[in-house]
Amino acid sequence: MCGIIGYIGYDNATPLLIEGLKKLEYRGYDSAGVAVHTEHSLEVVKAKGKLCALSEKLQQMPQLVGNLGIAHTRWATHGEPSEQNSHPILSASGKFAVVHNGIIENYIAIKDELLKKGVKFSSDTDTEVVAQLLDIYYDGDVLSTVIKVISKIEGSYALGIICAQRPDELIAVKKASPLIVGVGKGENFIASDATAIVSRTKDIIRLEDEEIAIIRAGSVKIYDKAKNEISKEIVHIDWDVAAAEKAGYEHFMLKEIMEQPTAIMNTIKPRIKDGKIDFEQDGVSFSMADLKNINKICILACGSAYHVGCVAKYIFEKILRKPVEVAVASEFRYMNPIVDGNTLVVAISQSGETADTLAAMKEAKALGARVLSIVNVVGSSIATCSDNVLYTWAGPEIAVATTKAYSTQLCVVYMLAIYMAKKLSRINSAQHAAFVEDLLNLPSKVEKVLTAQELIKSLAKNFYDCKNVFFIGRNTDYSVSLEGSLKLKEISYIHSEAYPAGELKHGTISLIEEGTLVVALATNDALFEKMISNIKEVKARGATVLTLTTEMHRAEAESVSDYCICIPKTSDMMMPSLAVLPLQLFAYYIAYLKGCDIDKPRNLAKSVTVE
Ligand code: AGP
Repeated sequence: MCGIIGYIGYDNATPLLIEGLKKLEYRGYDSAGVAVHTEHSLEVVKAKGKLCALSEKLQQMPQLVGNLGIAHTRWATHGEPSEQNSHPILSASGKFAVVHNGIIENYIAIKDELLKKGVKFSSDTDTEVVAQLLDIYYDGDVLSTVIKVISKIEGSYALGIICAQRPDELIAVKKASPLIVGVGKGENFIASDATAIVSRTKDIIRLEDEEIAIIRAGSVKIYDKAKNEISKEIVHIDWDVAAAEKAGYEHFMLKEIMEQPTAIMNTIKPRIKDGKIDFEQDGVSFSMADLKNINKICILACGSAYHVGCVAKYIFEKILRKPVEVAVASEFRYMNPIVDGNTLVVAISQSGETADTLAAMKEAKALGARVLSIVNVVGSSIATCSDNVLYTWAGPEIAVATTKAYSTQLCVVYMLAIYMAKKLSRINSAQHAAFVEDLLNLPSKVEKVLTAQELIKSLAKNFYDCKNVFFIGRNTDYSVSLEGSLKLKEISYIHSEAYPAGELKHGTISLIEEGTLVVALATNDALFEKMISNIKEVKARGATVLTLTTEMHRAEAESVSDYCICIPKTSDMMMPSLAVLPLQLFAYYIAYLKGCDIDKPRNLAKSVTVE
């Protein structure tokens, strides 16, 4: 989704802003632009399409030089992707330039009001009302002007603002859309996420809703809506700059797939002490009474994180014997949810900024639930809004298609399940010890599965031009099928569906014809024979079947399938961590062979900050 960077300092802003935008490319965008304060005016350059179009445009014109500027990558919502609609948006007088992430929900009413007053609009965006309001309200005091504007607008916004008459001030304000201030030496930044500025500074301030930052080269002042100055904590982010680079891999996605053994180890290891799962360092603990009082677990998430929730439902219900509801976060608020003080809500999110998940968990909190989140980005909105957070230590994930964050989320789910089951005496000490051992062995098993990279690449050569793919499985294999299908769809643009294997015969099997690819997941011993029957059903109708199973079932699986991938065995609970890996690699190589833009698939954004 849209990306923001702003700079004020001793250096020329333009190259820094372009570099920052490059780091934000992964969020997804369809146009980009930059505004720089040059001497007395604001100069804006924008281009539709990729950043290289903007860079080319900048090269063909006299250098854009100034120490203050804002820049933006836009993922179109209101108004088509075009130069005119891209940001920064200039106010009619040219006095203000604005970059915006989010949606101004009452922009039509404001626009009508301003049009009646004779204000001329030059774009179809909701953002332009902000620029025009700044123009109208400006009385020489930028703080009170911004306060007036944010009192008028409704919706979500992260705004970066510069003013032609204020060459030494960069202004930032946000509501329900993330924005950080990067604190440097003699220079300061704003950004929608730390990736954009981490090479210049790792000291950041996270703005809260309706806080206004007036940023100069040597100072950052933050005010509330009543103009009181607020003191804010500067947080040092412990990010390795190289972690956000490709490190020799052709794509971030492949790098992140290969990083999974480490990411899983980093997520599990610190939470195992003396053979026990311990969330003390996370500040998370549940007393026996807490756990007994939980009469329902409600999981809120979107996309792949929702698929982790689908796995979690099988696991929690089996081991804890408590009912689990997994809700697509965007639906939750509108379904009159049955949630109360006895519900444990688990919100799952890589970015921690997904607007739908954030809104859903706020709703659940308002209904009295305790909210525990599983989040990758430290200090993100979902993390901050939760009662408890368990971080997934996957490190920065840049590819739009999630891999290592998904895998680490699964691990937190396993640990939570084992921890709660032990406290509730649903498992004994021996079972607990066996699970812990399986957890500790997981990274090396993941590493082993990833060595099948070449085999999967060669299998992908048989299928990269197929039009439809079906993924089938039972129990957690079905949940993993959902994720395998999403991976394939999002990066290769091949239509695919995931079905519970037993459900196919109730309708969808009519779509199977000669050569249709069916990927059958059969990693659960107890359900293996049932899967064999389902494989035979689709084979009998002409399907080409690629079966994913464990080594012990190789012979039988090979006898009924066209192709087979075998993975090692771990406890049934943790099989999803091994089963998903070939599917990630399969999607990657299919997309690779099709020549797709793997890290930045069309129409998609890494962090979806609008509802
Ligand atoms: C997965 O590959 C997707 N990019 C997407 O479904 C993602 O999982 C979803 O948007 C949720 O994002 P979050 O984990 O940052 O909340």
